[in-house]
Amino acid sequence: MESEMDEGGLTRRDFVTRSLFAATVMPVGLLARMANGSQETRPLEDWIARARSQLPVTKESTYFQTGAYGPSPQPVIDEIAERLAFQNRGPADPRFNNPMGEIEPDLRSYLAETFHVGPTGVALTHSTSEGISIAAWSLNWAKGDEVIISNQEHPSNIIPWYLLRDRYGLVIRVINLDTGTSLLDEVRDALSARTRMVSISHVSRNNGRRVRTEESADLARILRAKDILYHLDGAQGPGCVPVNFNDLGCDCYSTCGHKWLLGPKGTGAFFVREDMLDRVQLSWAGAHSHADMDYEGSYTLLPSAARYEFGTRALSDFAGFRRAVSWIQEFGLERVHKRIQYLVAYAIDRIGQSNQLTLSSPAVEEDRSGVFVMRLPEACDALTVYKHLSGDPKILTSPVRREGDLRLAIHFFNTEEEIDAAIEAVDNVCHAGSVV
Ligand SMILES: Cc1ncc(COP(=O)(O)O)c(C=O)c1O
Repeated sequence: MESEMDEGGLTRRDFVTRSLFAATVMPVGLLARMANGSQETRPLEDWIARARSQLPVTKESTYFQTGAYGPSPQPVIDEIAERLAFQNRGPADPRFNNPMGEIEPDLRSYLAETFHVGPTGVALTHSTSEGISIAAWSLNWAKGDEVIISNQEHPSNIIPWYLLRDRYGLVIRVINLDTGTSLLDEVRDALSARTRMVSISHVSRNNGRRVRTEESADLARILRAKDILYHLDGAQGPGCVPVNFNDLGCDCYSTCGHKWLLGPKGTGAFFVREDMLDRVQLSWAGAHSHADMDYEGSYTLLPSAARYEFGTRALSDFAGFRRAVSWIQEFGLERVHKRIQYLVAYAIDRIGQSNQLTLSSPAVEEDRSGVFVMRLPEACDALTVYKHLSGDPKILTSPVRREGDLRLAIHFFNTEEEIDAAIEAVDNVCHAGSVV
């Protein structure tokens, strides 16, 4: 669960307001649909209906929490179970071990091809955070060196910098990536002779702003000319917005399988430009990071990003990650992105009909992503609204960093009716005035 979210028990005030909510402010439209035993009133396009029929989550809740954990489809769940059962017929028996050994190389190549990374530029990790830490610890930081991050980062792209600050005297410069600022101007103003790395979100989990591919490429050119490492935190990238690692121009990119790609929880990937492999140095390593070694003190690292991997790993999960990407590709990533953009435009339009909710995520299409964020009226507390909605109507949303901001992570499998229901529910809860 993301760190700003309070998962604690209900307070007395929560209890009172939740009871009030159930009795008086359940959206009328939603109540009617629930009474009919159905939450959908419009015919769904075939491919969406097919996708939804394979996603168990659609039968449990109105799920707008892909930005935290993506729900896996049944074929992914089955793939993991089958591979695990297969492996355990003899984990060290070559009959089972050898086929299991093909999972990682196959997944690396598939991710490289899908997201336009060089053939040896993909490392498989367990989370975005792991990739961020690989990048953060890759330089020999000296006291007074500087890193640039933004005011829209997840704690995973903050904590490593705090550690480095406290351990090596690194200076953290924070640029303003609120909706509507200029990324290039912000970075230019923050650069100094001591800047050694820029690490920002490709898509912010807080305000949904996406770094455009062209502005990222421009930034990459500026940074490369100054020998500054450029890392993107892509936790909210693949599956949500188009990702072409090569065109983005960054030196490295951290992401995961468990959000918008709908893969197993605890899977990730780290992309590196192949010519930067020796620059992005290893701080953690172990068996399987090396091509050769002896017991006299010599070793050679793998000539690929697989050098960032080591030890025994959860191969059945990586098989599930592979299946998740191929599942989404059966529908086509381009079609998925277009559908997300369509639904976000729908949500923006829908918010326009409310006399108290406003848009917090970007209005400009090029800056939008599936991370849609609405601003609640001042008297309405986002955490309390989140708790209400995840209760009885089972509408899963998320409070984000800015007070009064509530996020709907809108994926292609969501529907207009779900967006209507969520916005109507939020509107009604806030109207009731009981959730301050
Ligand atoms: C922008 C961003 N970065 C990093 C993370 C951490 O991701 P992971 O759990 O894959 O480490 C998240 C999770 O929500 C995120 O939204």
